[in-house]
Amino acid sequence: MGLIHETDYGTKPSASAKTVSLTIDGTKVEIAEGTSIMRAAMEAGIQVPKLCATDTLDAFGSCRLCLVEIQGRNGTPASCTTPVAEGLVVSTQTPRLKQLRRGVMELYISDHPLDCLTCAANGDCELQDMAGAVGLREVRYGYEGENHLGLAKDESNPYFTFDSSKCIACSRCVRACEETQGTFALTIEGRGFGSRVSAGAGETFLESDCVSCGACVQACPTATLTEKSVIEIGQPEHSVVTTCAYCGVGCAFKAEMRGEEVVRMVPYKDGKANRGHSCVKGRFAWGYATHKDRILNPMIRAKMTDPWREVSWDEALAYAASEFKRIQAKYGRNAVGGITSSRCTNEETYLVQKLVRAGFGNNNVDTCARVCHSPTGYGLSTTYGTSAGTQDFDSVEHADVVVVIGANPTDGHPVFASRLKKRLREGAKLIVIDPRRIDLVRTPHVAAAHHLPLRPGTNVAVLTAMAHVIVTEGLVDEAFVRANCDLAEFNRWAAFVAEERNSPEEVAKFAGVAVETIRAAARLYATGGNAAIYYGLGVTEHSQGSTAVMAIANLAMATGNIGRPGVGVNPLRGQNNVQGACDMGSFPHELSGYRHVSDDGARAMFENLWNVALDKEPGLRIPNMLDAAVNGTFKGLYIQGEDILQSDPDTHHVAAGLGAMECVIVQDLFLNETANYAHIFLPGSTFLEKDGTFTNAERRIQRVRKVMAPRNGMGDWEVTLAFAKALGFTMDYAHPGEVMDEIAAVTPTFKGVSYAKLDELGSIQWPCNDKAPEGTPVMHVGGFVRGKGRFMITEYVATDERVGPRFPLLLTTGRILSQYNVGAQTRRTANVVWHEEDRLEINPHDAEVRGIRDGDWVAVRSRAGETSLRALITDRVAAGVVYTTFHHPDTQANVVTTDYSDWATNCPEYKVTAVQCLPSNGPGAWQSRYREHAARSRRIAKPAEVAE
Ligand code: SF4
Ligand code: SF4
Ligand code: SF4
Ligand code: FES
Repeated sequence: MGLIHETDYGTKPSASAKTVSLTIDGTKVEIAEGTSIMRAAMEAGIQVPKLCATDTLDAFGSCRLCLVEIQGRNGTPASCTTPVAEGLVVSTQTPRLKQLRRGVMELYISDHPLDCLTCAANGDCELQDMAGAVGLREVRYGYEGENHLGLAKDESNPYFTFDSSKCIACSRCVRACEETQGTFALTIEGRGFGSRVSAGAGETFLESDCVSCGACVQACPTATLTEKSVIEIGQPEHSVVTTCAYCGVGCAFKAEMRGEEVVRMVPYKDGKANRGHSCVKGRFAWGYATHKDRILNPMIRAKMTDPWREVSWDEALAYAASEFKRIQAKYGRNAVGGITSSRCTNEETYLVQKLVRAGFGNNNVDTCARVCHSPTGYGLSTTYGTSAGTQDFDSVEHADVVVVIGANPTDGHPVFASRLKKRLREGAKLIVIDPRRIDLVRTPHVAAAHHLPLRPGTNVAVLTAMAHVIVTEGLVDEAFVRANCDLAEFNRWAAFVAEERNSPEEVAKFAGVAVETIRAAARLYATGGNAAIYYGLGVTEHSQGSTAVMAIANLAMATGNIGRPGVGVNPLRGQNNVQGACDMGSFPHELSGYRHVSDDGARAMFENLWNVALDKEPGLRIPNMLDAAVNGTFKGLYIQGEDILQSDPDTHHVAAGLGAMECVIVQDLFLNETANYAHIFLPGSTFLEKDGTFTNAERRIQRVRKVMAPRNGMGDWEVTLAFAKALGFTMDYAHPGEVMDEIAAVTPTFKGVSYAKLDELGSIQWPCNDKAPEGTPVMHVGGFVRGKGRFMITEYVATDERVGPRFPLLLTTGRILSQYNVGAQTRRTANVVWHEEDRLEINPHDAEVRGIRDGDWVAVRSRAGETSLRALITDRVAAGVVYTTFHHPDTQANVVTTDYSDWATNCPEYKVTAVQCLPSNGPGAWQSRYREHAARSRRIAKPAEVAE
């Protein structure tokens, strides 16, 4: 463990395969053509002083500190902007250069506060370092001249300060905001000596377009932009590389620590998913780990109306085991089940499904992927043979056309969005298919070529209409199809999509997209070069979610956009480890690696290893568990790290199911909404407190490393082991690494994975096996995993959820950048300054006819329930469509979502709910009742109450 110092080479590496030779300070250097002299020197171990250059940004050449002399050339060129050339003889340290550099530094220092000893950046300041490096000993101009030392600080951002008095106008922050983040929030105002960084005319950082990604803070070589946590806690002493626990991008971070206290999370340059970038959540929103609301002691209660009673781990686990044994003895083996968490590690998830299958003796295990990407698993395994996305994130750098459908990357997958926007600024074309005008449709320096604002629920029709255009206009990549796909299936599919009823002309009549837009989008996708599709829950969370995934897979096959960089079918996974939870066998019908429980060979392997007989019948899915609970046959549920009351559809039904059970065990960080219906609460630990792995949306397995001891005394994996032991089923592991060894032994796609290899390579994309010992960045190269790619018929069947006189509007839901999922973590951070409440987006026309003004309370009513929230009037949504987020339990958008679900996987149809919206006076009666109920259920008995 040490302070992991990443070398800054000053400029980016060159991708050229051609090398050139030169001499720098007498050393022979061979390096790729196109490399800067600065980088060539740095790679040879020769430090060149620099301030405006950093290797995450394009060279700028403004500070004049990196000057060099080149034999035979006049002047002193900047080494950061001068490329290497064959035979150059370069000197970086001559008396003339030293004098010039000292002069530059003198100017900087004469306008810089002399408070190094008390400055938060003391010891981590490049200006300070460079003053030392150039041997600055005096400032001849004195400190009395015109200066900027009196400028006020901007402390508006909750996570970092902007102290303009310390700014050296190097522009690294401005360039980071443009090049890395793609937000263009910062400018340099004024000229010459008057140049100042500004977040907008007269605006503070908080008021500006800044999305608080932290890229500028990281780029700043001085203390001008500094994390408030560094100011409060001090400079870090050591760091540990780990993985963000929020979204499926899977950004790698250095947790920079003082003892067991996190000072800051710094995006790791070697992180292959994020390449040194981050968003506000992973970068700054980790304070929930030490929030006062965290429950650190196990608690039990006989009835959910009783107050909680804190008990020892032994008592809680003995009680949990005795309750589950009692229930199974009384109601049968299948009356209990478990839910694994996509927020937990692969190892923890694997253990929970093992506990259920081997310890409970049934297959009643499911995971939150049920309610998000289960159609991805079904659709992609049916067509291609693998339940996962086909590319790595680097792939987007090779895309010429990008289709984003049912996803909002700038909010849901921000670091991927930044990489995508960069590619778009380089000239790639964008097609957005979404009912809402998401930011990507028009954002600084990016404009979609086509936006298809389709009616919620018509994805399959629109995708099939695009296929119609491709087939009928002769745009199919016949050579690819002939070589890689099942031809009989293709012919059947081609005849189907070519039918007139699938034409843009017919589909436009009900899908809300113009005929020409569908045609133009299809042509661009088929003929624009490398074309990649990225999709999200706006595709899967429908009654035809699996069909839409197959429609996407069909388009990629028909146009040959599969099996190489820059193309592919890419599900943007929501939670950090939703891919891993699926891989680990969290579904009731599948063992790890997607082997069906009825597969005798696979089952026998697990039976031998675990020394138990396994059930060959699939178990219950989450909705079936809740139905069975309401019907009185399902009585006990162990939920690790999920809040199904808030995240699952039709809240009233979820509450009824949970309320009907005799023993609900919730393991989580906080008393979440589901815990209001629980009898046993087992405190969980955060990603900072655990060892393990997460698998991100690109199948990338990455290490999660413990930086502090579990505050609750036990890691989540240890809790599962202890629960199993109390039930009489022993699982014996000394460390999560041993769990990974077992996963590798029983899961073909993980065969070559181990902690040692992960430490060596940094990360591995599965499949990792004898054929691909270092993993597989791009899948289906040279052929599909299933053999021949399979075209599937995608008949459009309109959802039963229809608008009508009672419910004339369609509600669709999504996320916002600053909040994450049910908000349990992010609501307990300063991120609430950006999103204090869920709002209802409503089109000006729909608002006007209902007499709704911006900010008014609106009752949203569906056939499932009613909730109230405040209106945000915007033409981002078309007339007839309303939209909200689901981050706050006070509004609980899922009170109104219905029990319709995907035909193949039961994934709920969150994205289409027919509603009526009318003005209201404030929170509805249900919300008030729920708040009272939640307050009652969260009571923790005082010691005196316990004694009674
Ligand atoms: S935090 Fe990010 S978005 Fe905000 S100004 Fe800095 S780089 Fe730009
Ligand atoms: S704020 Fe920092 S990065 Fe930006 S110009 Fe000033 S010194 Fe450079
Ligand atoms: S993009 Fe996702 S993984 Fe990366 S920092 Fe943000 S929340 Fe974390
Ligand atoms: S580092 Fe080269 S000009 Fe600033």
